[in-house]
This record gives sequence, structure tokens and C-alpha cells, in this order.
Amino acid sequence: MLRLLQLPDNFPGKLWLSSMPGRFEPMEEFLGWCRGVSVDEIVCLVGSEEIAEKSSEYAAVLEAGSCPLPVEQFPIPDYGAPKDIEVFVAMARHVAEQLQTGRKIVLHCAAGHGRTGMFAVVVLLASGMPLKSALVAVQAAGSEPDTADQNTLIKKAAIRLAAHKTAKRNKLAFLTGAGISAESGIRTFRASDGLWNGYRIQDVASPMGWGKSREKVLEFYNQRRTEVLAASPNAGHLACAELEKDFEVTVSTQNIDDLHERAGSTRVFHLHGEILKGQSSRNPNLVFPLDGPLIRIGDKSPDGSQVRPHVVWFEESVLRMKEATKAAQEADVFVVCGTSLAVFPAAGLAQLPRPGTPLYLIDPSPPTLPDGNWTVIAEPASSGLRRLANILTRNIH
Ligand SMILES: NC(=O)c1ccc[n+]([C@@H]2O[C@H](COP(=O)([O-])OP(=O)(O)OC[C@H]3O[C@@H](n4cnc5c(N)ncnc54)[C@H](O)[C@@H]3O)[C@@H](O)[C@H]2O)c1
Repeated sequence: MLRLLQLPDNFPGKLWLSSMPGRFEPMEEFLGWCRGVSVDEIVCLVGSEEIAEKSSEYAAVLEAGSCPLPVEQFPIPDYGAPKDIEVFVAMARHVAEQLQTGRKIVLHCAAGHGRTGMFAVVVLLASGMPLKSALVAVQAAGSEPDTADQNTLIKKAAIRLAAHKTAKRNKLAFLTGAGISAESGIRTFRASDGLWNGYRIQDVASPMGWGKSREKVLEFYNQRRTEVLAASPNAGHLACAELEKDFEVTVSTQNIDDLHERAGSTRVFHLHGEILKGQSSRNPNLVFPLDGPLIRIGDKSPDGSQVRPHVVWFEESVLRMKEATKAAQEADVFVVCGTSLAVFPAAGLAQLPRPGTPLYLIDPSPPTLPDGNWTVIAEPASSGLRRLANILTRNIH
């Protein structure tokens, strides 16, 4: 039986407590209950040996990889408490964050009592609920910590989470792409079916294209520049900028528009250049602001060469990678928004955060992600980044 746990009101997700799937009922019956309430995933607090001992059916589907729901395993010994409290608290926080994004989760150990109760209490603590209310809520859902060790662990976790609440999580690093500007009316590359507003990408974004037809390349970027100047930052850009109140924010962006800056972000690394700047066609380090929306044939840069857009083309070196790499490696929280993670080396930044760093993705059509503890907010940037800001600042204010 799935037992629903009462979560704080502002949590759109659902958490059920349960005994081990297939232990007291046929596996198919358990899965039927999950289907009935549209469960998204299972969090399992039992190791593989104990599962094999207590539910051969569950063990079989896990081993065959045929469980229809994703199973996240976090083994704790029977009647025991986890050894590494930091990892345990991080896992409980991760589940709380998933619940805040609307995920529906089943949590289980073997009998669904002690370990499940302990973990559920810490999830509620991580959701901002006081200890006493968390214990009452978990008891009402039919579980509770069984042993002195489990009760001690809960008290330690409560202290850690309280300390965390007041601590400012210093470094928040964003990696953004075309999707964050989509709601400002600037089309993503993908949305254009491989064509960028009717142009073949290699004709307008490569040194070869420039060699073939400077007119065509300039015309293309003149259109993009005019489009960018007419656009305004959306709620997603604004949410990134507002987070500077609470975090040391860096934004590594593949975008060539200036919407992050216009929203108020102060540390923006443009990996692929900036459309509102011009560049010498002889010296890539000679970069300067443009007077207006258009670059014309004959416009001269200070070294006398034809002005070209300050945009990184295929085969050219990506910019600001040193700063972006450092920001990703040192991040306390790392967020990806609006990129298909298809263009390297920029996409590789998502592989750099330290293990255990909370990772978030905001994208209505999530791309394939590198390994890690990702919380996926499958929404457009405007609402998704607002939701993320609420999650991140809940622990501070
Ligand atoms: N605004 C710009 O400066 C701009 C626009 C188009 C392309 N580009 C360039 O094209 C290349 C494409 O790579 P990319 O990964 O940035 O873009 P991409 O087009 O490959 O992927 C866009 C991603 O954004 C997501 N998306 C769509 N709408 C969204 C929304 N409202 N909110 C959040 N996410 C949304 C898509 O699902 C997709 O995963 C980059 O090199 C970039 O420089 C830049």
C-alpha cells in the first residue's frame, strides 16, 4: 500500500511511503498502484543483497533494468543509519527539491517503517518543516525512526539543515543558451530545423562562408543585430540577475545577444561572442563597440581591415573559456538553461562541477545530461528560473 505523506502547502509534488515493492504483494500489483497515481520515480533505501533476500521479483526487475519507473538507490543498513551524514542530507535535500518541482515519488525501505521514517523526516526538514511537525507528519503516514541511531541522525541532520539555512551558498554558476532568449522573441537554432532563420549555418557562421560572400554574412548578422536591439530581457534573464542579491552569480552564455546584461547580470562570459560588437577581420583580438545596427561592406576597423561581427564561427576559438571553466569548477550550485548541450566545448562545462554539487536544468525539452544529481525543471526559462530562484532562496531568507 502506498501511504501519502503530508507535504508543506507550497510543494506541488507528492511523496508516498511504502514497504519494499513485491515483498508483501505481487510486483505487478505494486506497479499498478504507482500507475494509478502517476508516480515518476522510486527512491530505494535498501542495498541489492537485502533486496534479493526480501523480494526476488523486485531484485529481478532491477537486475534486468526492466522496472518501468526510474529507481534511485541510497542503501542504508537494516535498523541502521547512514555513515555519511553529509551525503544523506544532500540526498534528502535533492528529494525535497524534486518535490518542489512537482515530482511524484515513492520512498521505501524493507518494511517501510524505520529507515523510510528517518529519511522522510529529513526530507520534510529539508522542505523547511520544523522537526516536531515533521515527526508527526511521518507518523501519521505510518512510519517512524526505529532505533536510537536513527533518532540521533535526525537530530544531527536538523542541525546541519538549520546551519545551511543561514549560510549563503556562495557561488552560483549558470550556463545558458539560445533557449533563455526564446521568450524574448529571438529564435533558437533548433527551432529553425537546422536552418538559422532561413540561412544555412555553414554559409553564415564559418570563415569559409565569409570568404565566399561577405555580403551574405553581414546581411545575416545585421538582421540578428536589429532583432536583438528590438528585443527585451524576459523573466528568465531577470531571475538570473536578481539572484545576485543572494549569490555570487556568473553567467557563461552561448548567446551573442546582450539580454543578460540588460537584465542586470554583472558577470557574463560570452563564449560565442557579442553581436553588438565588431571585430577586425585581420586581428581577432581587436574588438570594439558598433555605432549602430548595421555593418556595411567598406566599414573599417581601427587597423584598416573590413569590420566583421564579433561572433565565434565554426573552427574559431571559443572565448572566455578560462573564466567559464573556473566558474563551473568552483560552483556551489550549477544551472543549465536553454541549451541543447550539443555545441562543444561550451557543453563540456556541464561536466565540470565538483561531485555532489546541486545541478539544475531548466528546459521545456530537456536534452541528455551528463552524470550527476540533476534536478530537472521542464519549463520555459521565464517560469522555470523563477521557480529555481524560489528554491534557492528558500534556504536563505
Ligand atoms: N540568442 C542568441 O544569442 C542565439 C540564438 C540562436 C542561436 N544561437 C547560437 O546557436 C548555438 C546553439 O546552441 P544552443 O545550445 O544555445 O541552442 P539550441 O538551439 O541548440 O538549443 C536550444 C535549447 O533551448 C531549449 N528551449 C527552447 N525554448 C526554451 C525556453 N523558452 N526556455 C528554456 N529553454 C528553451 C530547447 O529545448 C533546446 O534544448 C549556440 O552556439 C548559440 O551561440 C544564439
